Amino acid sequence: QCPALRRLSCAGTVAAGLRREEQPSGSVETGCQDKTPTKTFYEEQDERREQAQRTVLVHCPSKISEKEFLKHLSQHGPVHSHFFYESFGLYAVVEFCQKDSVDSLLNVTQIPAMGMEAVIPFRSRFLNLKLKSPSRPVSEMSPIQPSNQLPPSNRKLSELLYSAESVDDQLSTLLKELQLTEENTRLRYLICSLIEDIATAYFPGCTIRPFGSSVNTFGKLGCDLDMFIDLHETRKLRTHKRIGNFLMEFQVKNVPSERIATQKILTVIGESLDHFGPGCVGIQKILNARCPLVRFSHQASGFQCDLTTNNRVALKSSELLYIYGSMDSRVRALVFSIRCWARAHSLTSNIPGSWITNFSLTMMVIFFLQRRSPPILPTLDTLKALADTEDKCIIEGNNCTFTRDLNKIKPSENTETLELLLKEFFEYFGNFAFNKNSINIRQGREQNKPDSSPLHIENPFETSLNISKNVNQSQLQRFVELARESAWVLHQEDAYLPSSSSKPPWGLAALLLPSVMQSTKKQKKRCGSERIKSLLESMKSGSPESSANTSRN
Ligand code: GTP
Ligand code: MG
Repeated sequence: QCPALRRLSCAGTVAAGLRREEQPSGSVETGCQDKTPTKTFYEEQDERREQAQRTVLVHCPSKISEKEFLKHLSQHGPVHSHFFYESFGLYAVVEFCQKDSVDSLLNVTQIPAMGMEAVIPFRSRFLNLKLKSPSRPVSEMSPIQPSNQLPPSNRKLSELLYSAESVDDQLSTLLKELQLTEENTRLRYLICSLIEDIATAYFPGCTIRPFGSSVNTFGKLGCDLDMFIDLHETRKLRTHKRIGNFLMEFQVKNVPSERIATQKILTVIGESLDHFGPGCVGIQKILNARCPLVRFSHQASGFQCDLTTNNRVALKSSELLYIYGSMDSRVRALVFSIRCWARAHSLTSNIPGSWITNFSLTMMVIFFLQRRSPPILPTLDTLKALADTEDKCIIEGNNCTFTRDLNKIKPSENTETLELLLKEFFEYFGNFAFNKNSINIRQGREQNKPDSSPLHIENPFETSLNISKNVNQSQLQRFVELARESAWVLHQEDAYLPSSSSKPPWGLAALLLPSVMQSTKKQKKRCGSERIKSLLESMKSGSPESSANTSRN
């Protein structure tokens, strides 16, 4: 199965249901197409950004004729694509073919008149559609099919996994069900674009860029929207404005440090979002964090947003993960399953704390895939060696160079199945010498830990930093124990055949149920199979106390 799956890129997201006006109606794109992405990360970002600038978000009455709505909007120019979704009301995302059409629409859009309340006359591309006269009878309208922006319920997901044909099929199903859809990705870029409109009032030429799981191919429906304000373009302009022997500079205010500058920028943007940003609620300015940020909810999209400044290294990490996620279809399937497994057992959390983060888990999966024989993923140093001069990238003194051209990377010869990789992942980390070794995707090999943090995962670009510094001993221990239990569950192939008549939850479905994992603890003690005995032996020899414990001094 794997050679066929190999190079099956899922970097493009599913576009089911997206109406593209020039396509025959009902035409549907599918995700996971069998092709190597031809676009680089930045080409993809630029295209989507430009697309978002031609797009408006419209809150619609619940009963609306889609045809009339589109006809109304088409007065301003041809509509390229649109979709509806529900989130405390009905919303339409409408992409025009030309940006001028958006301007034309905004020119005829009114500031609403409120009875007793006053309004802040802020003009944005987030609009409200009102019906002047009652709509036609509902029976005359073809029903609107809103696109879904949320992940399936746990129950639905369990059912799907339960009825899958194999563990491989379960991993692919999980990926298909949870990955960001084309519509959801568009919505993410649109929200960034709307925030950018506010930020450019203060910082002309700035860009609000999404990063993290919204763009790195590992995003799950419902994940947060990380974005940062990129002032780099503004700075670049400044260095290029030379005329003859003269160098013109802006008059600026000075502050004692970069951190204070960041805090000031985020303060004004946070205030603007709070006072003027339609749909931006619950604004929190978390300015004393290591990486200061403004957190808010965007009500109409349901996204929890984190806005930071000048986070170019994080964008580079997102690009690196995008490349790794696009190289081999098994990468994303495995990362999604491991992330989901960790969430199901509360190894990860939405609340910051001493837990492992999704980012760290992704690094662990990449490292594991670099360690397979033959390797499924190349090391970061290999990607750096393949880079040409255009790929050279130094950010704040850190060498972030690697090739951006996927065609330069030879497909892996490895044909291991997802089922095997899942088992081996749990065994590998169930027995990893966390007490002395660190995980390092740059070199793709274990290295001595430079300090006593329980879990050490080297930051790929700022190599003196540990991305899992927050993880404490007891969280690591829980991870190790659950990895071992999970390896054990997966090794009981015979007991959990999908076709068995009693059909207990099996394979990945069993791993995602904390109750099943609890009961396997008991069963494990009664188990007599030679294979499991030897597995248990191997686990015993690397007991959590000896491998996960770091230092008792
Ligand atoms: P989700 O849990 O789906 O949101 O995954 P995520 O990858 O978006 O993680 P998160 O929102 O926590 O962080 C966003 C991005 O910030 C990550 O993708 C990384 O690029 C970066 N990041 C997060 N945590 C760390 C860290 O500890 N060190 C470094 N260097 N970067 C981090
Ligand atoms: Mg995130």
